[in-house]
Amino acid sequence: MNAVTVRAKKVSESMVHEHTYKVFPNDLNSYGTVFGGMIMATLDRIALVVAERHSGETCVTVSVDAMHFLAPAGQGDILLYYASVNRSWRSSMEIGVKVLAENYQTGEKRHILSAYFTFVALDENKIAVEVPQVIPDTSTEKRRYIEAGDRRDRRRKEAEERRASRENNN
Ligand SMILES: CC(C)(COP(=O)(O)OP(=O)(O)OC[C@H]1O[C@@H](n2cnc3c(N)ncnc32)[C@H](O)[C@@H]1OP(=O)(O)O)[C@@H](O)C(=O)NCCC(=O)NCCS
Repeated sequence: MNAVTVRAKKVSESMVHEHTYKVFPNDLNSYGTVFGGMIMATLDRIALVVAERHSGETCVTVSVDAMHFLAPAGQGDILLYYASVNRSWRSSMEIGVKVLAENYQTGEKRHILSAYFTFVALDENKIAVEVPQVIPDTSTEKRRYIEAGDRRDRRRKEAEERRASRENNN
């Protein structure tokens, strides 16, 4: 894909809605709850699918905002994964992810975590390439689009501070 063929795309064209995963004993940590690393790896993979669907390019994870586990999931639970593109810039995209744990006996759903991944689309020479802009349709998509702009400002500021700190230490 090149700049001429890049077109804006709707969030619904790339989203992953309710990918389900049944928790078995080999998914648990020593404490008997779901191993967080398993959830993180799955999230990275699902968010990558959204980024590659949106961009039509090969993408790499460039950053993940703070990830907080809000509640544990346990054996027998069903994990429900959601991921969608919030906004894109020149070559990068913010993908928002959410995980719920469902108790299949009661139907109760608990919010396990939400996080934001940034992916960059690269060409065959590993050069960052232009990606389609996002068309937010619903009120939720519009809110996420605006909030993603604030988060990008913060990430760029933090990246700048890290760069300055590295230079000072050299
Ligand atoms: C992704 C990568 C090519 C970007 O390199 P770079 O020199 O920063 O490239 P650029 O300055 O052209 O930036 C490219 C985009 O990345 C974004 N970016 C770079 N660092 C970022 C960060 N820490 N957080 C969020 N976005 C970031 C830039 O804002 C830019 O986005 P834009 O084009 O939409 O404005 C490089 O950081 C890389 O290869 N990282 C390793 C990725 C990887 O291997 N991931 C797998 C995990 S092992």
